Amino acid sequence: MDTIRLAIVGCGGMGHRHMYGLAELHRVGWENFTLVGACDPVLDNAESLATKAEERFGKKPAVVSNLDELAAIGVDAVDVTTTPPYHHTIAVETLQRGWHTMVEKPMGLTVRACNLIRSAADNSNAVISVAENYRRDPINRLAKALLDAEVIGKPRFLIHHTIGGSNRMLISVWRHQKDQSGVLLDVGVHYADMIEYLLGDVETVYAQTRLHEPIRHNPAAVTGESGSNPAGVYTEWQRKMPAEFEATAEDAAYATLTFKNGAVGQYIEDHGAWGQGSWMRQIHGSQGSMALPGDRSGGLISLQINGQGTVTEEALLELVPDFHLDAVTTDLFGGNRLWQYSFPFPDTDAKIIAIEYGDFAEAIAGNRPIEVDAYQGTRSVAISYAMLESGVSGEIVHLDKMIDESINTYQQDIDAGLGI
Ligand SMILES: NC(=O)c1ccc[n+]([C@@H]2O[C@H](COP(=O)([O-])OP(=O)(O)OC[C@H]3O[C@@H](n4cnc5c(N)ncnc54)[C@H](O)[C@@H]3O)[C@@H](O)[C@H]2O)c1
Repeated sequence: MDTIRLAIVGCGGMGHRHMYGLAELHRVGWENFTLVGACDPVLDNAESLATKAEERFGKKPAVVSNLDELAAIGVDAVDVTTTPPYHHTIAVETLQRGWHTMVEKPMGLTVRACNLIRSAADNSNAVISVAENYRRDPINRLAKALLDAEVIGKPRFLIHHTIGGSNRMLISVWRHQKDQSGVLLDVGVHYADMIEYLLGDVETVYAQTRLHEPIRHNPAAVTGESGSNPAGVYTEWQRKMPAEFEATAEDAAYATLTFKNGAVGQYIEDHGAWGQGSWMRQIHGSQGSMALPGDRSGGLISLQINGQGTVTEEALLELVPDFHLDAVTTDLFGGNRLWQYSFPFPDTDAKIIAIEYGDFAEAIAGNRPIEVDAYQGTRSVAISYAMLESGVSGEIVHLDKMIDESINTYQQDIDAGLGI
């Protein structure tokens, strides 16, 4: 079969990380894509990605600044890794052009932006995929298999906490701006996706939200180094960002969730917290509990099961004899029944992004439906904004009303700024 002619649109930090993921996919023998274009109006960024791609693939993709130039090269598929305000403008156009489209999370900047992409996808024969990486972590696959096997019984209660951050910049200035994708959306959609992956549909959300730290500090502008630089790709950009700036997006949400299956969730994201940091994802069921390790850490799941005590490490596999990772994940991680793994973070990051590309290729080939589709991508954005909408109204928010846009007070200004 001919390879799929792919362009990466948006050549910043995640664009580079996606290219490393594509190289990792090729390294293990899945040569489904040919990277033919690096597209970014900031040509230096496109050039940087293309040069580094040449080192890995032996051929330099074309450096271009817009979609018309990509059309002239000839592409079958695009991977949209721009900042969030452009996800819908690009994805709607690429779907209309008939190009298969993978779009980074958050799928759109608001629920309305997601719905625009969904309707473009409905009117296109092209595949739409949301690049949601956390669920593809092999340890999260095992957690899901254990929950489906009801090893802790019926889930009753989820605790998910992410607490830390103080007044430091999280990766970039735009992650603190309400009109660009604040931190509760940027980080929150990952957790929203994981929460629904593990426990099924969220029905309602109630939350208190806060903006604790209206001035954020960027240590990289002062010392050259930042504590928030995943895979080390952001250094040069962070050094050029201001040393301090105003944050306009809320940085904390304290939420209660209810699920269609009757479970309840306590969900805290506090990215302005001082002192003791904390990260926890724990599920309590009618027969025991499950504590999960951090996403992309390769750490251990620990179960406490009534009558069996603690079950962890390799013994977890005995509880799920049919658990197998898919072919591409197996090739990337070197095993099809993993209970832990250990790689430097940039390698783990690249492998998990490679799984996203593998899934995208399989769906384009018609071998299976895409895993994180436009509806699921919209749901994650809706859950994150449901916290912010509830924070504004003080009311319990039903997810259905988020998705049909009948609740959108918080998002109104953002939509107006986008002109949608
Ligand atoms: N899944 C993950 O773990 C993860 C991690 C980091 C970022 N992301 C997501 O990836 C996306 C990009 O984040 P980032 O950290 O790379 O941001 P970034 O600011 O480092 O890079 C964004 C790039 O997009 C370019 N861009 C802006 N408008 C464009 C347009 N119209 N066409 C083409 N390029 C355009 C910018 O010039 C820049 O090079 C965001 O949606 C973010 O949420 C996901």
